[in-house]
Amino acid sequence: MKTVQLNDKTFEIYIPQNEIEKRIDVLSQEIVNDIGDTTPVFISVLNGAFLFTSEIIKRFPYNCEVDFLKISSYVGTTSSGNVSLTTNSIKASLENRNIVVLEDIIDTGLTIKSLLNDLSTYSPKKISIATLLFKPDVFKFKNEIEINYIGFDIANDFVVGYGLDYNGLGRNLLDIYKLKPL
Ligand code: IMP
Repeated sequence: MKTVQLNDKTFEIYIPQNEIEKRIDVLSQEIVNDIGDTTPVFISVLNGAFLFTSEIIKRFPYNCEVDFLKISSYVGTTSSGNVSLTTNSIKASLENRNIVVLEDIIDTGLTIKSLLNDLSTYSPKKISIATLLFKPDVFKFKNEIEINYIGFDIANDFVVGYGLDYNGLGRNLLDIYKLKPL
C-alpha cells in the first residue's frame, strides 16, 4: 500500500486523485445547476481549501467572484476548539448575493459555525456550503447547519493531502491519505 511519511507520522492512501476529481465533477455540476448565472461569491476557507477551490472555480461557467478567508482551529491532529480568524479580507459586497463557502473538510463544525455567524451579518441572499470531506460522526451541528454539497463522508480519521496538512506538510499530495494505525 502507498504510504507517505510526514514528520513523525505515516499516512496510507485513502482516496486517490481520480476519484476526487470524478466526485468534484459531480459536485460542481450540482452547484452550477443550483446557483446558475447569478454572479455568486465563492468564499474559500484557507489554507486547506485552495486546491478544492481551484477545481470548483475551473468548472464554473458563469461570472463569479472568489474571495479567501484564513481560518484555523487545528493544532497537530486535533481540533483546538478555538476558531481563530487570521485574515478578514472579503472585498466583495455580500448583500443580497449567493455565497458558496468552499471548505476542505468539516470536522466538528466549529469553523463553519463561526464563519456562518460572521457571513450572515452581511445580509446575503443565501449561503451554501460545499466541502470536499465531511466527518459526520464528530459534526456537532446536525440539526442546525445544512451542508449542501459533500464530496466524501469519511470516518473520524486524520487525513492529509489535496490541500490538507499535518503540521504544514502534505498539502501538495494529490491523493488523500489517512493516518496509519500504529
Ligand atoms: P472543524 O472546525 O472541527 O470543523 O475543523 C475544520 C478545520 O480543521 C478544517 O478546515 C481543517 O483545516 C482542519 N481539519 C479538520 N480535520 C482535519 C484532518 O483530518 N486533517 C487535516 N486538517 C483537518
